[in-house]
Amino acid sequence: MNEPLIRDLALLPKETSLNIADLSKVVDLVAGKNADGSKRDWVEDNIISIREKVKGSKHSTIYYPASGRDLIRPLFAFDADHLIAVDNDPQLSGETEKQLKEMGISFSSSHSEDLKTSDTTFELGGKKRRITQICKDARYVRLSDLGLEQVDILHIYAPSGADEDITEEDLYLQEKYGRNWRFKNFDEATRVEMKENPYAPKVDPQTGKYKVLGPKVNKSLTQANYQLVNEGGFFIFGEMELSYYDLPRSLLDLMGLENSKITRRHPWTILTTFHPKAEEIDTHAPSLRFSGVVLLKIQASLVLNPAFAGI
Ligand SMILES: C[S@@+](CC[C@H](N)C(=O)[O-])C[C@H]1O[C@@H](n2cnc3c(N)ncnc32)[C@H](O)[C@@H]1O
Repeated sequence: MNEPLIRDLALLPKETSLNIADLSKVVDLVAGKNADGSKRDWVEDNIISIREKVKGSKHSTIYYPASGRDLIRPLFAFDADHLIAVDNDPQLSGETEKQLKEMGISFSSSHSEDLKTSDTTFELGGKKRRITQICKDARYVRLSDLGLEQVDILHIYAPSGADEDITEEDLYLQEKYGRNWRFKNFDEATRVEMKENPYAPKVDPQTGKYKVLGPKVNKSLTQANYQLVNEGGFFIFGEMELSYYDLPRSLLDLMGLENSKITRRHPWTILTTFHPKAEEIDTHAPSLRFSGVVLLKIQASLVLNPAFAGI
């Protein structure tokens, strides 16, 4: 096994209460055991920078829709007790257990009857941790269905595939045509069939739109997202600033929010089913390469003015 490439350990901020051996295991998992030093450093910096920010604030529960394989990293970086991760990729079933095995950590797991939900408990960094992994379309999942009103951390990062509303039309086409349903959307024969089929969904005559069955996973500060997070908790929207333009400090204050700088994730760690290899991310998404970024933190329980929503 490689020697852990943790840099000057003496420089690690004590208040992050990071267990070095565990940090090294998580970095191995995220960066890969044979990763070069700079990639490991980046992953390490991301974790350490988040640890520093969460101390003294609320960080017990994380809700992460469209989580992909990003499970142990956020749990450990935010020093959370419970991560609820939702993703509809069936290939991710068993991913929590797989990652823990790779790290050599023992765990115990239970599964729902339909095997779509797993609940795994284990110890990491001297604390008992829990990951609930739900294999479902995130647009149909509500926190309240999971018995929760709010969480401490709402983590939304590149929810590609869940970032559009799902409508009655989408569902109809999905059920009828399977994997290639999206192409049917623009097909004249399909349009005629839907018009003539009395059982096919129809647009609302007033709005001219199909009924929304599941709202998109919104990667911005909507009123609904704002209300999901406890006072003293965090939002992570792609680890980016609240908006693409500078918001005046006073506006953030009014919203009870504070930007907090962290080290952005290494772009190679955001692997998708479309780009399952690190090299592909490198080729296809060079725009993901940023380093210094921000995290948002609620400072006060001010109700978000609807006028601010969605910025
Ligand atoms: C670009 S990846 C990002 C993964 C993760 N957030 C990260 O940053 O590493 C997008 C993820 O969204 C998932 N996804 C796509 N459509 C979804 C949906 N409707 N519901 C839940 N997950 C979905 C995909 O399976 C994939 O894991």
